[in-house]
Amino acid sequence: MAKPLDFSDLTGKGRKKEFTPQYFNDKEGALPKHIQEKADLVNKQLHQHEVKPQPLEQVNTQGFYSPDKTPDKKQPQPTGMGYPIQQTPAGDELMQLFPTPLLICPYPVDYTKELEWIRNQECRKENQGNDGGQGQPIHYNRQSEDTFVLDRPELSNIRAFIEAKLHEFVTKIYASTDKLVITQSWLNKSKKGESHHEHVHPNSMISGVWYPQIHEQMPPIQFRSKGQRDVSLQTDKYNTFNSATFMLPMKKGELILFPSNLTHSVPANLGEEERISLSFNTWPKGNMGDVKSLTYLPFDRCV
Ligand SMILES: [Fe+2]
Repeated sequence: MAKPLDFSDLTGKGRKKEFTPQYFNDKEGALPKHIQEKADLVNKQLHQHEVKPQPLEQVNTQGFYSPDKTPDKKQPQPTGMGYPIQQTPAGDELMQLFPTPLLICPYPVDYTKELEWIRNQECRKENQGNDGGQGQPIHYNRQSEDTFVLDRPELSNIRAFIEAKLHEFVTKIYASTDKLVITQSWLNKSKKGESHHEHVHPNSMISGVWYPQIHEQMPPIQFRSKGQRDVSLQTDKYNTFNSATFMLPMKKGELILFPSNLTHSVPANLGEEERISLSFNTWPKGNMGDVKSLTYLPFDRCV
């Protein structure tokens, strides 16, 4: 009778082969400086949220509450065009199917003049919501009266930067030949006590936020996973597979681009300084789809 296979040692410790994560960058481990800085910043935040056996609810130094904490240490990897695969210590291969792209782009030049113009823009005076059953009114952040701010000549440099990064996002990450155009664009200002509820951006393909006035002590942007289920396992440590939310701290001048259907929010600003961001939506230029594959969407017939 054949001897049963021994699966007792699945740790991979006895294996001769070295198991190294497979990245898609050319020089393994050598991340560009600005990406490494972001990694350090994210990791710093994550350490503040490190999951301990207790308590079940955690509050970071700014008092942000995340119901399900933050993922395990995030090590940004240069975006690849394939499926990210890591070899596990046991020698298996772990794939990340259908990941959500989020591009973070630092603004490369000074924007003092633009910031001054942005600070002077009129916003709604008050944006109060209902009490959410807590007995306290909720103060939401306030949008600019102008909801086409990127059409203004004062922000032409910012617009050019955003358009360049948008082009990169569409052509390199989505490998598309479509050209996206910016539709609406507006400012969000949040003073002490103001937050932004969870939302998506309807009627938009890719959305983005540029951060003219922020620093890491201000509230991060929080994203919610589409893979969240109504049942959950007991979790010891949070990572990209088991987290329902992810809080991303932003630096001054950074731009982020992400699919418009990705749910996001901003916790209340607890500091004295006003947090200012510029949001925008996009849509493909011209008709969409393709006649042969029965996906043709002729916009010229709709007007
Ligand atoms: Fe938004």
